Amino acid sequence: MSRFCPAYPAPRRQRASGLLMFLSARHSWLDALYERSYRMQMGEVRLPGLDLYMVNEPALVRRVLVEQAEDFPKSELLGQALAPLLGESIFTTSGEQWRRQRAMMDPAFAQARLQVAFPVMAAATEAMLARLEQLAEGAEHDIEVEMTHVTADIIFRTIFSVPMEGEDARRVFDAFARYQALVPRLVLPSIFGLRWLVWPWDAWRARRAAREIRGLLETLIRPRFEARRAGAEHPQADILAAFLDARDEQGRAFGFEELVDQVAMLFLAGHETSASALTWACHLLARAPDIQQRVHDEVAVQLGARAPGVPDMKSLTLTRNVFRETLRLFPPVGFMARQARTGCPMRGKRVEAGSTVVVSPWLIHRHRDGWHDPDAFDPDRHARDDEPGQARAGYLPFGMGPRVCLGAAFALQEATLILARLIGRWQLEAVDGHEPRPVGRLTIRSANGVRLRLRRRAEVAAG
Ligand code: HEM
Repeated sequence: MSRFCPAYPAPRRQRASGLLMFLSARHSWLDALYERSYRMQMGEVRLPGLDLYMVNEPALVRRVLVEQAEDFPKSELLGQALAPLLGESIFTTSGEQWRRQRAMMDPAFAQARLQVAFPVMAAATEAMLARLEQLAEGAEHDIEVEMTHVTADIIFRTIFSVPMEGEDARRVFDAFARYQALVPRLVLPSIFGLRWLVWPWDAWRARRAAREIRGLLETLIRPRFEARRAGAEHPQADILAAFLDARDEQGRAFGFEELVDQVAMLFLAGHETSASALTWACHLLARAPDIQQRVHDEVAVQLGARAPGVPDMKSLTLTRNVFRETLRLFPPVGFMARQARTGCPMRGKRVEAGSTVVVSPWLIHRHRDGWHDPDAFDPDRHARDDEPGQARAGYLPFGMGPRVCLGAAFALQEATLILARLIGRWQLEAVDGHEPRPVGRLTIRSANGVRLRLRRRAEVAAG
């Protein structure tokens, strides 16, 4: 059985001082971790103006995210940092405003809607395969570029019912890429309460990119918003149609600005996370050829040369488990920041009101008490059910409690489909001497890309 352990930044032996920790975290928060971070139940960071608690203990995680979620709303610092793009989107709001938005958005992600979205996802996946066909056999290729493209295309098509091909779509995509490159420099200092360390130049560039994205999204949304107001029926059952039809308890629809906030948020959350995870899945499969071969065999048996359908997504169990295991080792949302609403005790410490409480799937998924061989890539552990972490709030790539990811089922469906089609058709090979370097930014990405060689698989390609 393969026991490939992907490289990640070696934790420091000793805890660094608060300031040094912050300076390391500015580039990648993974660099601020130290050995005990992976063993402790709870840790504490104190900087001038910031009390931050890192919570790993399963009971505490449940308390913060599930049982007392109302007492630990989303950190305002994160909301402020993302406000130029996301405004008052569901990702950052709290309380009554969040409850209303969640109730209005939930139906767009119900199982029935996912079934409607499947052919759209399949079309974008086939477009990805067609792009890959243009590659020279065995040439090196940065798979992150393709995974970002296909996931952005899927979310674009499922929101607007148009492929991400036209000039406007291209501009949205490019402006998002610019915004995402800047976000870590805005978010990390903000989370650490050190907003004065955000360079005004970076803040200005982020605001400009955000304005451009919102302007372009508005051009796409406005005609449909107006048409719906005028009583027209929707031409398609896409996410935008569901949002335009959504009503709150008082019968009110989303206002235009609020709608743009939600669409901008979905575009960002809906492809950045999936692209990150799929890129790491390709890296893991390239380094564990035996598992890759088993995925290929599963796809060949379950699908053969037939186009996949919704029921196949359930029967591709190993393919799904590869994705689950990727989410364990490289959870795209590596940490979730909350703010204590009132003072409270935690493991014998007094957490003051306003303190930041962080739950980190990255740490919890690699916690030394939670998993057998925690750094090893072992998709079969998800079929065995004998891991302490599985039973103890120790696996939470999509979060937990009321703020759990709205798009979790969407993401699982899309990732299973993309992986099955990719591995059915292509063999992924590692490139000698290239070792991806994980960095913790908005999601967990590789600082130097994920370069692979792609070779056509004769038997399935012929089908
Ligand atoms: C592998 C892919 C994904 C991962 C790992 C992921 C992870 C997460 C996590 C951890 C949260 C909770 C954050 C917190 O509690 O602070 C979250 C929230 C959210 N995600 Fe995802 N996500 C993924 C894909 C998606 C997709 C595809 C969509 C939409 C199409 C989506 C939409 C959302 C929304 C709307 C929220 C906010 C929910 C709320 O606060 O009520 N996500 N996601």
